[in-house]
Amino acid sequence: VTPRVLVTGGAGYVGSHTAKMLRLEGVEPIVYDNLTTGNLSSVRWGPFVQGDILDTPRLIQAIEHHKPVAVMHFAASTYVGESVSDPAKYYRNNVGGTQSLLDACRQTRLDKIIFSSSCATYGVPAKLPVDEATPQVPVNPYGRTKLIAEQMLADYATAFGMRYVALRYFNACGADPEGDLGEWSEPETHLIPRALLAAAGKIPRLKIFGDDYQTIDGTCVRDYVHVADLARAHVLAYRHIEKGGHSVALNLGAGHGSSIREVLRAINQVTGQEVPIAIGHRRQGDPPALYADVRRAEQVLGFLPEYSDLATIVRTAAPFFGLEVRS
Ligand code: UFG
Repeated sequence: VTPRVLVTGGAGYVGSHTAKMLRLEGVEPIVYDNLTTGNLSSVRWGPFVQGDILDTPRLIQAIEHHKPVAVMHFAASTYVGESVSDPAKYYRNNVGGTQSLLDACRQTRLDKIIFSSSCATYGVPAKLPVDEATPQVPVNPYGRTKLIAEQMLADYATAFGMRYVALRYFNACGADPEGDLGEWSEPETHLIPRALLAAAGKIPRLKIFGDDYQTIDGTCVRDYVHVADLARAHVLAYRHIEKGGHSVALNLGAGHGSSIREVLRAINQVTGQEVPIAIGHRRQGDPPALYADVRRAEQVLGFLPEYSDLATIVRTAAPFFGLEVRS
C-alpha cells in the first residue's frame, strides 16, 4: 500500500513542490491548507483537505480519515516585516498553529514530524558559515516564533515519544524545473522574484537595500537554495525518520553565499535582460551576510544541493515572469 504523509501548508510555495516530490517518490501527500496564501491550483498530487492549522478537531479528523504515517508541517506565516507590525498573527499561526498540530498528532499517535524552520532563528550569527551549533538568537518576531516552535517540537518529542527533523531553510527560491509550479507570493517581497519582475518590466526597478555593507561588493550576501532541493531534502528527512532515525535539526542551503549584484548578473546572463536598479537605504534587521554550513544535512540525510546554483535558479523561475531563457 502507498504510504501517506499529511502536508500542512501543502498548497504553498515549498509545500507544493514537496507534495509533488513525495508523489514522484511513491508517497501520497494529503494536503491540509486554509488557502489564505496557498493556491488550490498547486494541489495536484493527492487529496486535499481545506482547514486551518488552529483547528485541532479538523486536523484530528483528517488524520483519522487518511491515516498518514508522518506529517510535514509547512503551514505558517512567513513575512519578517509583517511579523514586526503584527506579531499577534505570527504567535497565533506559528506557535499556536504548531501546538495545535502537535496536540492533534499526540491524540492520534502520529509520531513522525518534519518541521519547516528557518535560518531566521539564528538572527545575526557571530561566525560564518552558520552551522547548527550556532546559538539561535532571532532578531525579529518571525524568527522567534520559528524558534519557539522548534523548541516546542523537541519538548513534545521527548515527553510523548515523537521523532522529528527540523529543517532550517536559508533563502528558498527558484521554481519547479518541469514548470509545473511557479515562484509566487502576494505581496512579493523576496529579492529574486522582485528582480525578475523588474527585468520583465512589470515593476519599474529593483531597489537594492544598501550597497555599503562590508561584503564582496557592498551588497548583502545570502544563501539561495532551490525549492526543488528543499523538496528533495524533505523526502530524505521522511525516509530518515521512517526507518527509525534520531530527531535532528538541519540547515538546508546551497552552502555558499551570493551577493545581490551576483544575483542580478546571473539574471542578465540567463535572460539577456538588464535589471533596472535603484540604491536605497539599508533595510532594518538585515544581516550583512548569511550562509549555511550544510555538512550535517549531508551526513545525516545524504543531502547535496543539485539545483542551487544561481543560473539554474534563474532559469527555472524566469519563465513564470514572462522572461525568455537564453542560456
Ligand atoms: N533585497 C533588496 N531589495 C528587495 C528585496 C530584497 O535589496 O526588493 C535584499 C535584502 O535586503 C536582502 C536580500 O535582498 O539583503 C534578500 O532578501 P529577501 O527578502 O529575499 O530574503 P531575506 O534574506 O530577508 O529573508 C530570508 C527568508 C526569510 C528569513 C530570512 C532570515 O525569506 O524567511 O531570510 O534572515 F526569515
